[in-house]
Amino acid sequence: MGLKIPLIPEQASSISIEVDQMLYVLLAASVLFAALIFGAICYFAIRYRRRSELDIPEPVKSGWALQIIWIVIPLGLTMAMFGWSASIFLNHSQPPRDATQIFVVAKQWMWKSQHMEGVREIDELHIPVGSSVKLTMTSEDVIHSFSVPAFRTKQDIVPGRYTNLWFTATKPGKYRLFCTEYCGANHSGMNGWVYAMEPKDYALWLAGGPKGSLVAEGAKLFQDLACIKCHRDDGGGRCPALRGLFGQTILLTGGATVEADEAYIRESILDPAAKVVDGYQPLMPTFRDRVSEEEVVELVAYIKSLVRKPQGDAAGQKP
Ligand code: CUA
Repeated sequence: MGLKIPLIPEQASSISIEVDQMLYVLLAASVLFAALIFGAICYFAIRYRRRSELDIPEPVKSGWALQIIWIVIPLGLTMAMFGWSASIFLNHSQPPRDATQIFVVAKQWMWKSQHMEGVREIDELHIPVGSSVKLTMTSEDVIHSFSVPAFRTKQDIVPGRYTNLWFTATKPGKYRLFCTEYCGANHSGMNGWVYAMEPKDYALWLAGGPKGSLVAEGAKLFQDLACIKCHRDDGGGRCPALRGLFGQTILLTGGATVEADEAYIRESILDPAAKVVDGYQPLMPTFRDRVSEEEVVELVAYIKSLVRKPQGDAAGQKP
């Protein structure tokens, strides 16, 4: 089994080819000059070696012409490289006006993105192929950096301000997203995937699929707020499992009961200590300052959608 080491990432954005061409030319120039210099060193060392004790070199005579040549030629070459790379940089510094805007919030150690249509993602970013995408990014804590090697692009993300990055994906596929600024213990784990999709697939994906977008939004919010950590689906978490909860009669601490309807779920999110389920501790913090009413609606819709799987289907589930 041969080891497969990809030398360069896929070329998957509109600037990939340009950037690679520049890289190859710079690399070729470096290799050429390194070879010339080392070759000359070796050749001169042999050709002009000291042959005897009496061998005295002739004084070096060189005119202005030679000095000027070896100043002007390298200067011209480096200025050409500078001009070329600066033009690529400047051409791509301003996003097109019609670019699709997506917001990205980075934090230790995850990527959160929010589409204008309301779809949120974690460690994933879905984008359409063939049209420009502009990311407006900020951080909740330290400096991170958004990098997609296949797109040949990278941008630092700084807390307290927005930075923009834009690109046009040219090839549908799944591409690595990396954090490329050391941001703490789990920096190396702060990566994700960018999914470049055909426009029609992207539109379909944005529409949220057959379940409806409110539910999809709620599901993501549920992950985002880390509700899943305590409200584990298998019932092993520190808080009650929520599958099949909606519509049930719930026994509370102190013996009272309540019907799990929209109002109850809403109250439990914003004022969790008001009605604690029997057998559980009042551990849950309030989300009053963390979610808007619209987001509560999404969460309620999501929890309402968590129906129990049909009997027999759920292997290993307690009856
Ligand atoms: Cu975030 Cu490194």
